[in-house]
Amino acid sequence: MRFTPRFLEELRDRVRVTDIVGRKVKLIRRGRNHLGLCPFHSEKSPSFSVNADKGFYHCFGCGAHGDIITFVMETEGLAFPDAVEQLANDAGMALPVREDRDEEREKTRRSLYDVMELAAVFFESELKGARGAKARAYLDGRQLTGPAVAPFRLGFAPDSRNGLKDHLTAKGVTIDDMIEAGLVGAPDDGGAPYDRFRGRVIFPITDVRGRVIAFGGRTLDPDGKPKYLNSPETPLFKKSTVLFNLAAARKAASQGATLIAVEGYVDVIALVLAGFAGAVAPLGTALTEEHLQMMWRIAPEPILCFDGDAAGIKAAQRGIDLTLPLLEPGQSLRFALLPGGQDPDDLIRARGSAAMQAVLDEAVGLADMLWRREIESADLATPERRAGAEKKLMACVQEIADPKVRDYYRTMMQERLRALFAPAPKSWAPSGQGRREGWGQGSFSPKPGFKPDRPGARPAWTPPVSDAVRRSAAGRGLARTLNPSGMAEEALVMAALTHPFLLDAFPEVFATLPIAEPQLDKLRRELLHAVSLEQSLDSQGLRDHVTRLGYGDLCERLERRPMLKSMAMTRRETSETVVLREFNHAVARHHKLTSLETEHAQAAEALKRDATEENLARLRAIAHELQSVIGSEAGPPDAF
Ligand code: UTP
Ligand code: MN
Repeated sequence: MRFTPRFLEELRDRVRVTDIVGRKVKLIRRGRNHLGLCPFHSEKSPSFSVNADKGFYHCFGCGAHGDIITFVMETEGLAFPDAVEQLANDAGMALPVREDRDEEREKTRRSLYDVMELAAVFFESELKGARGAKARAYLDGRQLTGPAVAPFRLGFAPDSRNGLKDHLTAKGVTIDDMIEAGLVGAPDDGGAPYDRFRGRVIFPITDVRGRVIAFGGRTLDPDGKPKYLNSPETPLFKKSTVLFNLAAARKAASQGATLIAVEGYVDVIALVLAGFAGAVAPLGTALTEEHLQMMWRIAPEPILCFDGDAAGIKAAQRGIDLTLPLLEPGQSLRFALLPGGQDPDDLIRARGSAAMQAVLDEAVGLADMLWRREIESADLATPERRAGAEKKLMACVQEIADPKVRDYYRTMMQERLRALFAPAPKSWAPSGQGRREGWGQGSFSPKPGFKPDRPGARPAWTPPVSDAVRRSAAGRGLARTLNPSGMAEEALVMAALTHPFLLDAFPEVFATLPIAEPQLDKLRRELLHAVSLEQSLDSQGLRDHVTRLGYGDLCERLERRPMLKSMAMTRRETSETVVLREFNHAVARHHKLTSLETEHAQAAEALKRDATEENLARLRAIAHELQSVIGSEAGPPDAF
């Protein structure tokens, strides 16, 4: 090679990627990255991101990716050595003297990508061949066959020390390259290198461009250890920065699929087969900050979906703490916890994709998750314990690095604590149960008539009670006659669309609003996404943007609603102060309403199951409470 790695490294260190890209693309700073319109494809909103620290650019629209050298090559049509020469001249670096022999060697050497691709093809054909019968039967048993599975390119590594090694040798791959690619291991005792994957079903792992960079192999033996063996870290594969199925999920997400992170590969495949195309999974590691950042570049609010076992609950806890410091306006997470001991694959096989959808619908925002963990599952019996819980909660809020988001969390949590600990006004006192919190999506104390699924203590926190319940027969009955929260969610989205400063100032509030209507929910996410990319959008700009995305009809429908027209916050001419007051009031009221509606539906179910006086009284108390909140519409705004 003409240029040594050290020379190229120095060049990349000396020349800032933002300077080189900045010559051609107008860049604006966004957090750690710079954003601009991609020079490699035509686009209206910026998806071209430049990371100055790491020295590369990446386009989330077309996948263009590279460093200063590739940028010059591609924008100026230069060959590699010419681009390096030009950059080195600009940076005042002396060029090394040419060594033809090295260049020759470089040409004959297959790249590691080629080696991985050859291996993938080998594993695929082994699965189809005579040696693959047992693996095919295994995949059949797990319903991992058929055309829908084909894009995953599953394979089989024969139970042999040399199967892959011999195959690659015949293709001209050197042992050193096989070792570097992590396909072959050299024993410490100096013996002959042998295949890493033996007798395993193979799951190829690809990078964002869909190139194979690693493999995961599952044992066929129920007692085999380890159950999954992954490629070691190689120049192509750094597991903290790779998510299984990311390339396909990104594409699906750009077409409206929800981005969902789950724990296992098979779960991803099961989800994709069940119609959840935005599924990804880390590879034999817990989620890392890099994983989250990668997901946020695709969707402002991905769902982390954890198995309903102790490990899953622990992982979700960890997810909360990992995320808090990384929150940014418009950028958050939702959490979904699967029912008792199941993973997505188990759930889908046992109860179908509707059951999975119900779990995702019940996903809880980060703020609610934090509240649930620190307050709802805490013992608040004495003032000292209350103070202790409050202190812990506020310490978590303090972890949020972004000042705007942190302030908002603080206000929200203080407000919730006030509501929780304040003496109940008369109309709000539920029958004999003490004060409920006024913001959350539901109360989690066991209700009269509550029958736990399993005997024993309930978990530290439980999966959210659901929109699904709200849509149940009893919930629908209520919604038909009143549907107050349906109206409120429309009003709040309209307000944000009319007054985009709300999105800018309160992205978390907006992101965590319970919105049951799926189209409206999608519109909400588009608004958040638009504002996170381009803060100066005005109402008309935002309206045009979402119209282009196909929400024109929905907006028109909302704009025609007489009830919405009568509200100050959805009118353009209303002053910011008034909009803010009305918006805050409406948000608080909406949270109260949705949580009461859920409780109402649950109480109605309980009564249906078990027609006791007690259950009837409870249903009445909640209906009464609900009426009083609905009646409070014209009242003075809550303190906020
Ligand atoms: P699980 O043990 O939950 O397995 O590991 P699973 O995904 O349900 O697998 P099946 O259904 O039994 O086939 C979850 C993930 O953790 C990693 C793998 O990425 C797996 O998908 N893992 C697990 C390993 O890397 N090594 C192991 O030995 C086990
Ligand atoms: Mn599983």
